[in-house]
Amino acid sequence: MPGEDPAQDPSLTPNIAPDASAPAEAAAPPAGTSGDVRLELRHISKSFGGVNVLKDVSLQLRPREVLGLLGDNGAGKSTLIKIITGVHQPDKGEILFDGQAVGALDVQKARDLGVETVFQERALAEQLPLWRNIFMGRPLTGRLGFLRTNEMRRLTAGLMGESMGFTSAMLTPESHVAGLSGGERQGVAIVRALHFEADIIILDEPTMGLSLNETEKLLHFVEGIRAAGRSAIFIDHNIFHVYSVSDRIVVLDRGRIAGEFPTSRYSLEEVMGIMREVAATSAYTEAERYRPTEAGTAIPAAEPRRPS
Ligand SMILES: Nc1ncnc2c1ncn2[C@@H]1O[C@H](COP(=O)(O)OP(=O)(O)OP(=O)(O)O)[C@@H](O)[C@H]1O
Ligand SMILES: [Mg+2]
Repeated sequence: MPGEDPAQDPSLTPNIAPDASAPAEAAAPPAGTSGDVRLELRHISKSFGGVNVLKDVSLQLRPREVLGLLGDNGAGKSTLIKIITGVHQPDKGEILFDGQAVGALDVQKARDLGVETVFQERALAEQLPLWRNIFMGRPLTGRLGFLRTNEMRRLTAGLMGESMGFTSAMLTPESHVAGLSGGERQGVAIVRALHFEADIIILDEPTMGLSLNETEKLLHFVEGIRAAGRSAIFIDHNIFHVYSVSDRIVVLDRGRIAGEFPTSRYSLEEVMGIMREVAATSAYTEAERYRPTEAGTAIPAAEPRRPS
């Protein structure tokens, strides 16, 4: 706000760290178990040129939940994300934020509703310094509209130390993004999304091309999303990564939800077995093989339907 002291503005303080003093945080239920639903998709269908890419997809994302989305190439994961981010509009179905149907989404509206997407390549402007990347599109300006560059540099330095965990003396707010590793870039993108109060952060294949070390850093940033009380959808082909960060895993199979599996109740081996079965069962056509019960336990349903 023009004329206000940014040091007093709580929205400008790094907020990735959990606030232990906040009573709401202290009383918060474990991730994903709250009755609240931050985002809900109801019966979403989408086709491209007569090909049904998403078929009657319903799912919920809860506050403080990291939802993993697994599925083979072409299963419809990115299409689902593009519907949530307003890039594509569904042919059928409804989208609700905090229990309210939002009607047709476009990219700006999805952003206004608090959805941010972290893509590895497109996340940052290479030729600009870190501080400009953090405040890109939302610069701090003074009363007369001048950019408060020193303030933005100072806040960036704070975010780098406290939230991003950048300890190298080589990295300053003036460092160019071109000199950052892939993992560090994604860290910057996630911290930026959190700093600007995104409620839902979507990561589609964020570990692609990252080294082991960078991947670990990235997974750590994803943990930070939950710790900050926000929600995330995490897509990756690597089931180990998805399992390690997710509270719940939803498996998409050729445009349908094949089942959902809370990681508190399913071991990694069980989820791997389910994925193998989904991939191998060519006759599998419906979301009837695994149906989560109320308690979240998947029950094998009748034999998968054979295509006639
Ligand atoms: N804009 C589009 N026009 C036509 N077909 C599309 C379009 N976008 C996606 N598709 C098709 O929809 C299907 C699902 O694609 P999508 O990108 O959602 O899959 P995905 O699960 O993200 O796969 P991957 O794991 O390979 O990223 C694919 O068959 C794809 O070719
Ligand atoms: Mg994809």
